Amino acid sequence: MAELKNQKKVAYVTGGSRGIGEAIVKTLALDGHHVVAVARNEEKLRALVNELGHLGQSVEPAVLDIADSAALAASIESTIEKHGRLDVLVNNAGITRDGLFMRMEDKDFDDVINTNLRAAFVACRAASRTMIRAKFGRIINIASVSGIMGNAGQVNYAASKAGLIGLTKSIARELASKQITANCVAPGFTTTDMTDILPPQIKDKVLEMIPLRRFGSPGEVAAMVGFLAGDAAGYITGQVMVVDGGMCM
Ligand code: NAI
Repeated sequence: MAELKNQKKVAYVTGGSRGIGEAIVKTLALDGHHVVAVARNEEKLRALVNELGHLGQSVEPAVLDIADSAALAASIESTIEKHGRLDVLVNNAGITRDGLFMRMEDKDFDDVINTNLRAAFVACRAASRTMIRAKFGRIINIASVSGIMGNAGQVNYAASKAGLIGLTKSIARELASKQITANCVAPGFTTTDMTDILPPQIKDKVLEMIPLRRFGSPGEVAAMVGFLAGDAAGYITGQVMVVDGGMCM
């Protein structure tokens, strides 16, 4: 077994440079984890790591494109090698390539599936051996209400997120006997770069569908991730925790 080189629990968070991922990195670091934050944008990532480092939190950057399976697996393996452990995996990075189904190009379908679903599969597989040995692990995959309800203009994205839910439940069943939990968090509309691009008339329409009549904040999604990563959530597995202001109740 790998020697435990880090006394803190180690968390690996994809898409950690902004939006929901940034909030997850901050939450897990505040909760006492050493966090490996993954993103493509080195400048943004280093700024975040420096900011949190000044606050005394333990965060390191990993710059890579998670759609590159070999690079992602190698990054997780080197994290395990360096720290001797990997306790929490959060597959958060995700992209949209919206468009009407009948006009959607194969590339827009494939890019979304590769980033949102295939990368999560690769990361879970790379992380699981160490978690099995440790008889502990928390896998948290960021899905979406689109994967539950479907969404016009998002066949690729909704399919990737529905796929992520099926992947997570299957992993939960396979790894439960090793005390590894696997859950999804499914945010509704959350204020980030991903939703900032929506035209105002679409935002107004969406607000009418949300009983709480507002978008969520990244911190509200991160709080659920922090809970699932923590000791209090040890008996929760295979679930989809919806954080959506009541939209898909
Ligand atoms: P965002 O666009 O603000 O941030 C996405 C993050 O993922 C960025 O850090 C980006 O660098 C990273 N990323 C994307 N592709 C990557 C790649 N190939 N390699 C490495 N990093 C990559 O998005 P946001 O809103 O923070 O979303 C985070 C997750 O939450 C996504 O999985 C998204 O699908 C999901 N979500 C977001 C909702 C929202 O309303 N914002 C609603 C439901 C789900």
